[in-house]
Amino acid sequence: MATRHFLSLLDFSPTELTQLLKRAIELKAMHRAGEIYEPLKNRVLAMIFEKSSTRTRVSFEAGMAQLGGQAMFLSPRDTQLGRGEPIEDTARVLSSMVDIIMVRTFEHEKLETLAQYSSVPVINGLTDWVHPCQLLADMQTWMEHRGDITGKTATYVGDGNNMCHSYINAARQLDFKLNIACPENYDPDAELLKAAGDRVSIHRDPQAACRGSDMIVTDVWASMGQEEEQQQREQAFAGYQVTAEMMALANDDALFMHCLPAHRGEEVSAEVIDGKQSVVWDEAENRLHAQKALLEFLLTQ
Ligand code: CP
Ligand code: NVA
Repeated sequence: MATRHFLSLLDFSPTELTQLLKRAIELKAMHRAGEIYEPLKNRVLAMIFEKSSTRTRVSFEAGMAQLGGQAMFLSPRDTQLGRGEPIEDTARVLSSMVDIIMVRTFEHEKLETLAQYSSVPVINGLTDWVHPCQLLADMQTWMEHRGDITGKTATYVGDGNNMCHSYINAARQLDFKLNIACPENYDPDAELLKAAGDRVSIHRDPQAACRGSDMIVTDVWASMGQEEEQQQREQAFAGYQVTAEMMALANDDALFMHCLPAHRGEEVSAEVIDGKQSVVWDEAENRLHAQKALLEFLLTQ
């Protein structure tokens, strides 16, 4: 059987995704009950981080340890990757020694090349294009709080970035409605949008986009690698902060999500992210459980 990778949500079928989310909820309950479950004994995960991380690194490292395996942190600063060793060669060598590889990098093409030359599964730990592991956690969080997401309405307020792209793929795979409120020139990719059909729509009025929504989600205005655009983006995104007034336009039981790290007072007010409708801490914790389900799936199926 061909090696399965998880480079985007489109690599798994809707049924596989739903099963994985249910398994994540089971693994969470087992972990909370103190059950020892070590199906990945002697298995090793190599993690390449070309960008910073708190949640992704800790959740993969803790997840591998809990499943009985080991995780290895690799940064370009102290590997030959940083000195220009080709990604193809790195993929061949790493995959001859470890069982699975996770990569956080800039260009999505780099991840695809690595997967192409790897003989073991490769997981996307975030690229400039998508952040699928985060969506597993977000969708698990939705499922825990509200059940099936089919036919519900989510509103993404902010930049048409990697998180926005992953929400578009999630809407497509799990069949929910997605309103995207973003300023002109910060739209998500047109092809991705088209592929999702009429369940996804672009709005220029964030207030109107939030009306009647079951979930409001946002992300930073300047992603990793865009730090020098911070000021310009603050101007472009004025009026796009998720506020209590915006939450009030959504349905009464609407949830607020954010992948974190967050900037209170920029993309979201402190009142909202620290408020009653916010599930950001569950969302962050679920990175652990969802990725354990992912590791189990890729290594034991
Ligand atoms: N949400 C997320 O991926 O967080 P980190 O950048 O801390 O990994
Ligand atoms: N869009 C953000 C997500 C961080 C988890 C970034 O790429 O920096």
